[in-house]
This record gives sequence, C-alpha cells and structure tokens, in this order.
Amino acid sequence: MFRTALNRSFVHYYKKSAVTVRLVLNLFTMIEKKPFERLPKDVTPVNYKLRLKPDLLAFTFDGHEIVSLKVNKPTNKIVLNSIDISIKKATLTVGEKTEDAVVSYCMEDETATLGFAESVAAGDAKLCIDFEGELNDKMKGFYHSKYFTPDGEERYGAVTQFESTDARRAFPCWDEPALKATFDVTLVVPEDRVALSNMPVQVEKVLGDGCKEVHYLTTPIMSTYLLAFVVGEYDYVEGRSSDGVLIRVYTPVGKKEQGQFALEVAVKTLPFYKDYFGIGFPLPKSDLIAIADFAAGAMENWGLVTYRETALLIDQKNSSSATKQWVALVVGHELAHQWFGNLVTMEWWTHLWLNEGFASWIEYLCVDYCHPEFDIWTQFVSSDYMRALELDALHNSHPIEVPVGHPDEVDEIFDTISYSKGASVIRMLHEFLGDEFFKKGLNIYLNRFKYSNAFTEDLWAALEESSGQPVGRMMTTWTKQMGFPVVQVSQRQEGSKRIIMLKQEKFNADGSVDETDSSWYVPVSLCTASSPSTPVKKVLLLPEVKSVEVILDNVSAGEWVKVNPGTYGVYRTQYSADMLDTLLPAIKDKTLPPRDRLGLQNDVFALARAGKISSVEFLNVVKSFEQEDNYTVWNDLANNLDQLGKLLQYTDIDDAFRSFVCKLYQPIGEKMGWDPKENESHLDSLLRSLVVQCLAKSGDSKTITEAKKRFHSHCDGSCCLGADIRSPVYHTVLRDADEEVFDRVLKLHKEADLQEEKVRILRSLGSVKHDKLIQRCLQFAMSDEVRSQDTVFVIISATCSKLGRQMAWEFIKENWSELANRYSGGFLLSRLIMSTTYHFASNDMAKEVEGFFVDHPAPAAQRTIQQSCENIRLNATWRQRDESAIREWLAKNST
Ligand code: BES
Ligand code: ZN
Repeated sequence: MFRTALNRSFVHYYKKSAVTVRLVLNLFTMIEKKPFERLPKDVTPVNYKLRLKPDLLAFTFDGHEIVSLKVNKPTNKIVLNSIDISIKKATLTVGEKTEDAVVSYCMEDETATLGFAESVAAGDAKLCIDFEGELNDKMKGFYHSKYFTPDGEERYGAVTQFESTDARRAFPCWDEPALKATFDVTLVVPEDRVALSNMPVQVEKVLGDGCKEVHYLTTPIMSTYLLAFVVGEYDYVEGRSSDGVLIRVYTPVGKKEQGQFALEVAVKTLPFYKDYFGIGFPLPKSDLIAIADFAAGAMENWGLVTYRETALLIDQKNSSSATKQWVALVVGHELAHQWFGNLVTMEWWTHLWLNEGFASWIEYLCVDYCHPEFDIWTQFVSSDYMRALELDALHNSHPIEVPVGHPDEVDEIFDTISYSKGASVIRMLHEFLGDEFFKKGLNIYLNRFKYSNAFTEDLWAALEESSGQPVGRMMTTWTKQMGFPVVQVSQRQEGSKRIIMLKQEKFNADGSVDETDSSWYVPVSLCTASSPSTPVKKVLLLPEVKSVEVILDNVSAGEWVKVNPGTYGVYRTQYSADMLDTLLPAIKDKTLPPRDRLGLQNDVFALARAGKISSVEFLNVVKSFEQEDNYTVWNDLANNLDQLGKLLQYTDIDDAFRSFVCKLYQPIGEKMGWDPKENESHLDSLLRSLVVQCLAKSGDSKTITEAKKRFHSHCDGSCCLGADIRSPVYHTVLRDADEEVFDRVLKLHKEADLQEEKVRILRSLGSVKHDKLIQRCLQFAMSDEVRSQDTVFVIISATCSKLGRQMAWEFIKENWSELANRYSGGFLLSRLIMSTTYHFASNDMAKEVEGFFVDHPAPAAQRTIQQSCENIRLNATWRQRDESAIREWLAKNST
C-alpha cells in the first residue's frame, strides 16, 4: 500500500525534473532499505521477572530482568527488541552453565543481538540483563509526566505507553503481539508515591533509603504492548461491579470526586461485557487512571487503563455534556479491549483493526446500554460511519487489513480506516446476522483464542459457525479491498408493485469511474412511507452480479421508497431524480427517521463533491431541513455546510453563503434560546451549543452580541457561563477579539484548574482574525503553557479561517524540526498535517505540500500526506466546477 502511494506521486511529478530527481532518490533509498523482518522464533520468552527503578529527578531508570526462555532451535545468538536502552550486562544460563553475551545493536530494526561463543541447545534457558534507560519526554515507552501538587509545586511522575512498539524502550523484550509471556513486575519508587502496574500488589517492602520495593502478582500470559507502570501522586474512588471486580479511578490529588462519573460507567460496563462476551473480566482488579501528559486519548493496558485527563475526569460544574459522553465512550472502548485485544490479541499489526474497529463499535453498544438518552447510535453514523466513507473514497485510502512491518508503518494505521471503517463494517455485519448469532460467534472466537492470538479470518470462521452465513466470503470483500460501493437506485411503478433497480460500483471521491473492478457483498434493505423504520425487503447484492431488480408489493404510486434504513450498509446511495424528489417532503415532515435524514443528506453532499450531481442539488436538500430539531442530524449537516463554507472562503460568495447558513439556523436558534430548560435532554444541551456556535460563526449579530455580554459577565464573576455554552462563547468573542480580549482569554486559560477547560480555550484560540493575534496564538501553542499533547489542537484551531490556515501552514514549515522531534513521527504529527492542509483548495497548494514533504520526509505520515494532497485537488476541482452554479442559486435563494 505504501509503495502504491509513492508510485502515484511519482507519476504526478513525472514532468517536474527537480522534484523528480529528489523523488527518484527517495525511491532508491526505499528500495535499498532491507525489507522488514519479524524477530526470529528460535528463542521465545515464557516469563519476565522485571525490576525497574525510575529516578524521577534525573529522568533515568535502572532495570534488571530475568527472562525464562524456550530455545526452540539451537542457536548462538538471541535477537530481541531494544531501543534507547543501554545494556550493561547480559548473561545466559542453561542448566549450571552461565555465559556472558556480546551485545550489538541495530538502530534501524530496533533490536539488540546477544552473541554467544557456543550454540545454545534446544530447551529451557534464563537470560539476565542489567540495563539503563531514559525516562523520556516523548510520551512513549517509559516517560516522565509533569503534574502540580495542590499547592502548586511542579513534580514529575513516570508512566508507560507501549503500544504499538515501545515496550522495547523500557526493557529489552520480544516486542511483538504474538510473543506472549507472563510478567512478574517489581517497581522501586519513593516511599510516598503511588506505584501501579497491571496486577494487584503482592508484597511491598520499605528499603530504608526513602524507597519502597513493590512486587506485583504474576500477570496472565499477555503481549508486551499491554504491560504498564505508573508512578506518581494520586487519589482514587473505588467501587465493585456486580460481578465482584474491584474498580478504582485514580485522579490528581484532591480531585477524586472527578473520577465518580467514570467509575459509575465502569461499574456498569464490566458486567455488561461479561454478559455480552460470555466470559468474566479476566483480572482481579481494574484501574483507570488520568495521566497529565498523554499522547493518545486512552490506552487499554490490561488492568491499568491510562487516560488523558479530558477522557476520564468529570467536574460537576465545569464539564460539558459532550465531555461526559466522550468519557463514557472512551471507558467503554478501553474496557472492551480487556477482552477483545488483551485476552485475544491480533497475531500481527495487519489485524490491528480487529482490536480498534471492534472496540470502536462495541463502545457504542455499551454506551447505548448505560445511557440510552444519548441516542448514541445516531451519533455513530455521523462521527464514525460518515468520516470513514469520506476518507475511504480517496484513491490513497487503504484496505482495512493492510500489510505493515516497520514501526512507522504500524503507527500510520491507527487511522479512520482501522477505527471507523472497521467499526462500520462490524455494525453492518451485526445488523445482517442479528444480535444472537453475532454474540454466539464472539463467544466461540474469544473462548477459542483466549490467552492467545488470532487473525481476521478466525473471527469470520467463528461467526460463520454461529450463523451458518458465508461470513468469510462476504467480509473479505470489505476488509481486504479498499473503498466501498455507491448503489444506484431507480424505480418504476407496475400497478400496485414498485420495481426497484439496484446497481453497485466503486465510489470514488473524484467521481471517476472505477478502474479496479472492485465489488462487494452488499446487504441492502429498503423501507417505504408505510414502513419507515422496518425494512420491507432485504437483498444481498453479490459481487459478480452488477445489477438487480427488487419487487415491492403494495406500494402506491407517489409513496417514497428509501434504501438503507438506519444507515447500516456501508455504501452511498444515488437515487434517480424522481425518487429523491419524493423523499424531500419526508425530511421536512420528519417522517423519515433521523439516521435516514442524516444519511440521505450526507450521501447527496458526497455525490455533489464528487461531481456526480450538482452542489445546487445538495443546497436544495439542505432547505428541507428548516424544521429540523434533532441534534445529530443538525451536527452532520453543520459539518458539511462548514466544509462547503471553507471551500467558498476562496471565492467572492463567501458572505452570501454565510448569510444563507445564518438564516437556516435562525428558527432552531430561537427555539433553543440561551438558557437550558428545566430537565432538558442531553441532546438538547448539545444542540444549543451547536446552534449558538453556527449562528455566531455565520454572523448572526444578535447571537454575537449576547455571547459577548455573557462572556463579560463570566469574566467579571457576575454570572458564570454554563459548561455547555462556553466553547461557542469563547469562539465567538475571539473571532472579534483585540489584544485585550485575547489576553483576557489567556488569563482564563492560566487560571483554569480543570484540563477540560484549558483545552476548551486552547481549541478556540485560533478563531482570532487579525494576523498579529493568529501569530500570537501559534506562538502560544509551542510555549510551556501548553502541553505537547495539546499543541496540535491550538495550531489546528487556527485553520478555521483562510488567513489562519495559511499562517498555520507557514508555521508548521518554519517549526518543522521542532514539531517532528516533539512527536517523533507519531500519529499526532499525522493528525496535525491532515488538519492543517486538508482544506486548501488549489492545485498549487497541493504541489507545495507535496514538495515540502519530499524535502522533509515524515515516515509515519506518508499516506496521510498523499490523502491530504488528493483532497486539496478535489477541493480545487469542486470549486471550479460548482462555484458559478452556487452563486446563481444563492442569488435566487437569499431573501
Ligand atoms: N489502543 C488505543 C491507544 C493507542 C492509539 C495506542 C494510538 C497507540 C496509538 C486505544 O484503545 C484507543 O483506541 N484510544 C483512542 C480512544 C478511543 C475511544 C477511540 C484514542 O486514543 O484516540
Ligand atoms: Zn482502542
């Protein structure tokens, strides 16, 4: 896949000699690079006795390990993973005999090789290693994290983040998911610190030098990437789930009540999964802990799940409904991994999606169970399904199952395809098989592979066994092939029968006709005006049959027929004009259910972007949403209008478009008002925040005035802003901010004690309009006031305006070496590149971005860069194609 992406850019640059030379050189280095190889299997680990002593002041650690090994094949060398670790001494003991090893390192492979004078015979052996390492500041491996005591003193703790390939930074090990072993961990830490690992403490000994030695119980057999240690100062709240598991939520000192919400979610979630999987929680305890410096959102270490503070802590007064919902989803996600991922682990990173796609699906099932009032499945359609389809329509997408080797390639697949497309195809399959068969199949799979590893095919085989359906054949078309189909639909009436014609072809974001001849097993359902939620017919399109006719009985002429009720099928639908016309009134009067209104609108938008229909048709559909009152439907529509708005920033119809959007939001804005109604629903709280944001952004003067007024009362202490409304208010006042207002917002940031509040402010800073303030915002992003993990949010926040987007890009170029070093190529860097460049809209910018990364390679962001550049070119084409039609439409439709 990687090679394909490179070839494509090679073709692009064919005629540009200077760039071509550089690319050819790159290509050569690629070819010269030896292919990635997994560790040799002649020697494999059985148990690690690991003792680590972090120095929280010098940021180093001492380590000692005794690894019990199986020598499977006689050999005179042992190759294991190790990087940024200095091995002081390594000896191998076989029976009575102990021999010193000669150690050599290979930086590129991230391995150490231990050489011995004589060949070691097959059988058991013990490897002892003394080593030293750095407690780094890169949020990976074993790293240090800064926190403040309640009276403001700055201190450091030590934390691990091993997924995917960074356990090797903490101790020499066989750092591959299939090389499972048991672990006996010992930590030596200052006496007054909390020290945690995956298992409960077995014994704790005070050493007398101010330190204590903590031994933990032996873990079950598990992968290295799931091991974890945390040393720091924490408070906790605890509870027990109905099935007897001790659950603790660790928070910063003095804030334990902020762990209460997550605790409640976890207490409900563990028994839910026990029932769903048919297997109890596999460990004696389950800790959830908030880490101040944390690159990802959360990490599923077995029995010790680590979280960003914003993904775990809820403050009664200052946390928004959106954060509550996010915490529930993240907890649901990570706890699902305790079975799916930790108990049964993918055999290799190619099957990462098994972990992430599955957890990204079941987190919704679990939140729907704990909080049905969130209507979370509708939100899934907007936040995962639609995002997946947008990315997967690019030529530079990749199949769900993708060959990967080197850690850079592994890092790169923690993306929307593995997560959101993975979750979407699981959801489609779950709907197709039904819950009972699906659950039974999962149980077979988990029992068959527990404490072991599995391939994607193993899951299909289990589901095939439980359901009798050809799951493997069907799902392979979804996981081994990139992209997805557009189903074209037309109809004719024959008496009381409606004949529906269905045809599939690959959907490409540029509207091009497919050259790859891809096709899928597509489960297609249909519903009608008389049965809007329950399908009246289900058919399975076969890959080899390109079109079918479906007969619906007793459907009168004029009655609407809709494809894909509930938006379960992973495909776009393109209706004939007459079918689409009959569906618009059903949007207006909301007889079409929310997920269908949302899905239809989003399909029309994607077809318009692809040039398969005109953007004007999308705008006509938008007008049918004037009476809309569902949060999620509005949110999805707002995303698309925002995307179109960003494109039109590069035209002279920017203002006309904004005033159209403004009018669209006014009725719902009136209805929602500014103040929460008594006992209002969770979704209405989200809707108010969204609508205020959209109205202010599109220039509604009443909303802007009110936001400013409320901001001032908030700052002078006369009236505190509710948590849900703060984000739109901060954005709004910053949009019109001068230096004084900007400083006031920075002051709020400084004074905020809750990380959520700090991040809320950081994410709105870039709304400022003046170049001087945008520059200040970008500088601030890199300052000590902002944690590295949040810097990217600040830079991204500047990309909402045309000027800010350009300045953010210049800033990234100027600060490239610092940024590349900070994130050392990881996924935060990919996200930063994607978000800053995605909305450019000219071919020249696409060339510029490509050119920059030829000179400044970002190995773990190669595909992301290709995707972004492809998108920039799509934007350019879209603008050229539809600008004048949109101009005319706006002239006619603005009153
Ligand atoms: N296993 C991941 C954490 C991870 C992400 C490790 C990237 C290495 C690289 C974890 O289960 C996860 O998926 N976390 C998500 C949050 C989740 C709710 C989608 C994250 O960190 O974004
Ligand atoms: Zn995950």
